[in-house]
Amino acid sequence: MSTVVNVGLGERSYPILIKKNLIAGIGLDLQQRNIAKRYGVISDDYVAELYGDKLMASLRQAGIEAELITFPRGEASKHLETIAALASTLANRGFDRKDCLIALGGGVTGDITGFLAGIYMRGIPFVQVPTTLLAQVDSSVGGKTGVDIPQGKNLVGVFYQPKAVYIDIDVLQTLPHAELQGGLAEVIKYGVIVDKEFFEYIEKNRQDILSLKDDVIIKVVARCCELKAWVVEQDECEGGLRRILNFGHTIGHAVEAASGFKLIHGLAVAIGMRTAADLAVKGGHLTAEESSRISTLIQDYGMSVQVPPEYNRQKIKEYLQADKKTVGGRVFFVLPTAIGAVTITDQVGEKDIDSVLENS
Ligand SMILES: NC(=O)c1ccc[n+]([C@@H]2O[C@H](COP(=O)([O-])OP(=O)(O)OC[C@H]3O[C@@H](n4cnc5c(N)ncnc54)[C@H](O)[C@@H]3O)[C@@H](O)[C@H]2O)c1
Ligand SMILES: [Zn+2]
Repeated sequence: MSTVVNVGLGERSYPILIKKNLIAGIGLDLQQRNIAKRYGVISDDYVAELYGDKLMASLRQAGIEAELITFPRGEASKHLETIAALASTLANRGFDRKDCLIALGGGVTGDITGFLAGIYMRGIPFVQVPTTLLAQVDSSVGGKTGVDIPQGKNLVGVFYQPKAVYIDIDVLQTLPHAELQGGLAEVIKYGVIVDKEFFEYIEKNRQDILSLKDDVIIKVVARCCELKAWVVEQDECEGGLRRILNFGHTIGHAVEAASGFKLIHGLAVAIGMRTAADLAVKGGHLTAEESSRISTLIQDYGMSVQVPPEYNRQKIKEYLQADKKTVGGRVFFVLPTAIGAVTITDQVGEKDIDSVLENS
């Protein structure tokens, strides 16, 4: 079973291929697409060890010249020095504008490689091979790329679309459970913001999703990609609609920052989604019953919806104010109005924020 989702952005359109054992077929597919003659595979050292050989063999078998270039794994690598070092490596090895990069890894690798491709020699093609669930359902689609600077996450970057996205669902088998959960938080997000039927599918198929049953996972990943593509097609550069993808991320980011970035992003988003749903109830946008349905689903997938008691509430509120989405001193919240629909508002009182941080 396999699926193709198209991201329709005019001449920047690209396919997302979703399949079992897809890495083995990437070489042949790239050869047919005729994107480049030579490829630079960029990967973190851990993913390179797991899947580097398999991808390189697939490229070699298709007669494609490729080199594997790695960097140390983790968010700590997502900064400008890594970009500079990788650009030097590419230049030293003679990569030019006719060559193409392949991002093999999670969101960190995708963001680094996309940004590097966007600026190396003023832009060279790149493709994504996302290996975490979060990268498969979110970061590899839509063309947001970039790195962190000491002043904040993702503050330097470009919108730059890949030529193709290859999603091999088999790689999820080696993903640590917490990383899988983090991706599932983003999956649940899509259901809440735009697709009630999908939300119900996630409710009904929990066992099969958690055990990574092939056809169910392909369906889930494909639906998320379709929904993200639909949003991005209407608002490529986050001028309007794309902001709905930030559901759960306003308080989520603040909680993530208050944890010193120790809490996995998706697990912070899980807390952010519950608190946003409760804020929606307090603001009269959502029924208590719907809010509790959202909260129950998150917990059924094994995620906590409470802000850990040891996290400093004042710090969380300071991070909220400093959020980069603060426009003119206002903090915007994406709040559900039903399951499958949201509104964006800055009309949220401090008392309500205090209250949802305590889950009351
Ligand atoms: N560009 C976007 O639109 C966008 C959207 C959401 C998140 N992001 C970014 O994505 C990043 C987070 O992505 P992530 O959670 O994938 O992090 P990540 O890339 O650091 O991957 C998480 C960990 O899992 C390991 N790993 C990856 N694939 C594996 C596999 N198949 N088996 C075993 N281990 C594996 C990695 O080595 C890493 O240690 C953040 O930097 C965030 O800002 C970007
Ligand atoms: Zn997210």
